[in-house]
This record gives sequence, structure tokens and C-alpha cells, in this order.
Amino acid sequence: MKSESLVKVWDLPLRFFHWLLVAGFSVAYLTEDELLPLHVWAGYLVLMLLIFRLIWGFIGNENSRFSNFLCSPATSFNYLKDLVQLKSKRYLGHNPAGTAMIVLLLVSLLATVISGFAVYGADQGVGPLAVLAGSKFEELLEEMHEFFANFTLFLVIVHILGVIVESFFHRENLAKAMVHGTKRSDQD
Ligand code: HEM
Repeated sequence: MKSESLVKVWDLPLRFFHWLLVAGFSVAYLTEDELLPLHVWAGYLVLMLLIFRLIWGFIGNENSRFSNFLCSPATSFNYLKDLVQLKSKRYLGHNPAGTAMIVLLLVSLLATVISGFAVYGADQGVGPLAVLAGSKFEELLEEMHEFFANFTLFLVIVHILGVIVESFFHRENLAKAMVHGTKRSDQD
């Protein structure tokens, strides 16, 4: 008989990071020029969270550390192939497909934030990239910012679909696990 005991998988700082990131990205995406101060504050929040996640990847608990879940694109691709053939292995921490999505999300979020501060600096002459004040590339920077914001939204949609598919496949609620931090310990 399989044990149904629970194990701690996601530590508290990682869960705070995740749900604050959801809030920060949502606020930033839904506000633009009309609510510029709020949009910029949400951008600062996302930037702080990304810096935190980078540090936490080295000092966080086992499942938060990059050394424990980063893998090659080939491993992620093979995992997706197994998933399609309904034989993917269950992971307590991030699975290889989740890992690929995490890397894409973090890089795309960083590109969105940096291009956002570049537009802010070019247009208003303030913020961390104020040196870009009056830049002739402002329009290009705006297009880049919009592109990365929409690409991040696309990744978020795929991420949520991935969480739903994996939850059904392994008969566990992964979204809830990101709230309370625990998963059942048995492997299947
Ligand atoms: C209601 C919406 C969402 C749900 C239910 C959800 C759920 C989850 C779950 C279950 C995981 C763990 C995946 C695993 O088992 O490997 C995860 C990880 C992650 N999610 Fe989400 N997510 C949501 C929205 C978002 C959004 C909007 C973003 C970014 C803007 C995001 C970024 C991330 C990142 C970066 C991780 C990796 C956590 C880490 O740093 O280790 N998620 N999410």
C-alpha cells in the first residue's frame, strides 16, 4: 500500500515569491500609461522578486536551488515526449518541462522589466535607466517592451495549462501545493 504522508516541497519564501510575482505581473500588465506610477511600482516589485529568486536559487531549500533542478533542453524535450506518451515520471520538485518554463519565464520577465525601465528612462528621464533620456530609440524600446510583455503573457498561459495537465496526470493539485508547500510523498 502506498503511503499518503506529506512532504514539504516549496519553502515559504519561494511561495511568497511566486504569488507576489503573479500579483506584480498582473498589476503591471493591466496598467499602462493611465496608471503609470502603479505600473512602474509593479515593475520595481517584479525586478526585486527576480533578484530575490536569483539569490534563492543558491541558498534556498533543496527544491529551490538551481543545482537541484536545472537540466538540459534535451532532458526537458524528452520529458515532454514521455508526457505525450502518458509515461512521464512524477517529480516532487520541478520536473524538466517545468524547469524549461521557469527559465523562459524568468528571462522573459527580466527582458520585460529592463525594456520597461529603458522606455521610462527615455521618455521621462527618471528611474534606473534615466541616462537614456531623450533617446532616439524610444519607439523601438517601446515595441520591445510590448513584445516581451506579451510573450511573457503567452508563457504564463502555457505555464498554467502545463500545471493543469500535470495535476490531472499525477492526480494532485499542483496550484494548491504552491499555496501550502506540501505534496504527497509517494512516487508513481
Ligand atoms: C493562477 C495562476 C498560476 C498558477 C496556478 C501557478 C502555479 C504554479 C505551480 C504549481 C508551480 C510549480 C511548478 C512545478 O511543479 O514545477 C509554479 C511555478 C512557477 N510559476 Fe506559476 N502559477 C501561476 C501563475 C504564474 C505567473 C503569472 C507567473 C509569472 C508571471 C508564474 C511564474 C512561475 C515561476 C517563475 C515558477 C517557478 C517557481 C520557482 O521559482 O521555483 N506563475 N507555478
